[in-house]
Amino acid sequence: MESARADDADWRGGRIGVFVHYAGEDVLKVAKDAYAMFFTENGLGPAALKSLAKFECEVVQMTAGLLSGGAGVRGTMTTGGTESILLAMKCARDWARAGNRGGATPKVVYSETTQPAFDKSAHLLGMEVVRVPVRADLSPDIEGIARAVDARTVALVASAPNFPYGMVDPVREYAALAAKHGLWLHVDACVGGYIAPFARKLGRPIPDFDFAIPEVTTISADCHKYGYAAKGASTLLFRDETAFSHLAYDFSGWPRGRYFTHTFTSTRAGEAIAAAWAVMKHRDHDRRLDGGGDLHVAPHCGQCSRSRPKTRLSRRASAPRSLSERRARAGRSRRCRRRWRRARDRRWASRSPAAPGRWPGRRRGTG
Ligand SMILES: Cc1ncc(COP(=O)(O)O)c(C=O)c1O
Repeated sequence: MESARADDADWRGGRIGVFVHYAGEDVLKVAKDAYAMFFTENGLGPAALKSLAKFECEVVQMTAGLLSGGAGVRGTMTTGGTESILLAMKCARDWARAGNRGGATPKVVYSETTQPAFDKSAHLLGMEVVRVPVRADLSPDIEGIARAVDARTVALVASAPNFPYGMVDPVREYAALAAKHGLWLHVDACVGGYIAPFARKLGRPIPDFDFAIPEVTTISADCHKYGYAAKGASTLLFRDETAFSHLAYDFSGWPRGRYFTHTFTSTRAGEAIAAAWAVMKHRDHDRRLDGGGDLHVAPHCGQCSRSRPKTRLSRRASAPRSLSERRARAGRSRRCRRRWRRARDRRWASRSPAAPGRWPGRRRGTG
């Protein structure tokens, strides 16, 4: 295997600007140790593997702290930027559907510099994309983007930064447009999420791009890029519970019981979650950037009990023995499930659809 990599690009020597993000041997060792320690664990089972649930929740918290998130921010870890983007687009689509917006083929508008993972997502989700050419100075043509917005448009995407030119889009200008038309605004900070806040702290002129802008609904940020974590780790953050409520997939027509996930994949590499947490802790991401105390936000990730139904994976110690006892218990749990479904249906029935023209964060009575 060593000889097989002889002709690989020398990423340790800085000969590669993409694919591998290297912050030195100390960070690499932290990631590798954590990865090896959690090598076989699965992020699908937070009730059984509480360590991973804690890591995921804290990665979401730390990321929210970096991205100006308030106390209501929620989020999840995914396997990479593409999955975060797919899920953000799914949420925008479902949010629009809930408000009877977007028609049969909802539209997303963005600059041509936006990563093709959005086109791939739109293709999978039955959405239409409008890519607007950049201006002569390579910046997004906001007027062109505004002209492309129509009644079917449900979302805008800005990049922080975009990949082709490394420029942070003028997210405040996108935000004005999103506010005017009541659109979901996603910021793709897959590249910048874990580096732009520090570049700004060092005095670089980084324009606002995160939750400091009230219209930003979701942000994707990749731990496995400038978060220097192992591959297979990204985050998707939501401004609030209302936006987050469109994420979960909840299926109960399965003999094994309820299937409930916040991600596209079922199994998730626990080692990638653990390595991301370890590197963030190692790099003091749990301290606020201003050097103040601990994080002031207390967001909840997809694995927390507030959003995730409790599932019992192991048998009780006092497993019923006789047939009649088992039947009695089954009857009790059927009644319990029926009660739970009735309560859920009542909750759903009392929800009002999203008011057209309003940003999802302003919706009331949901979530
Ligand atoms: C700006 C941007 N967004 C999203 C992605 C997709 O991320 P991933 O390769 O982790 O799926 C990339 C990948 O390079 C990117 O540069």
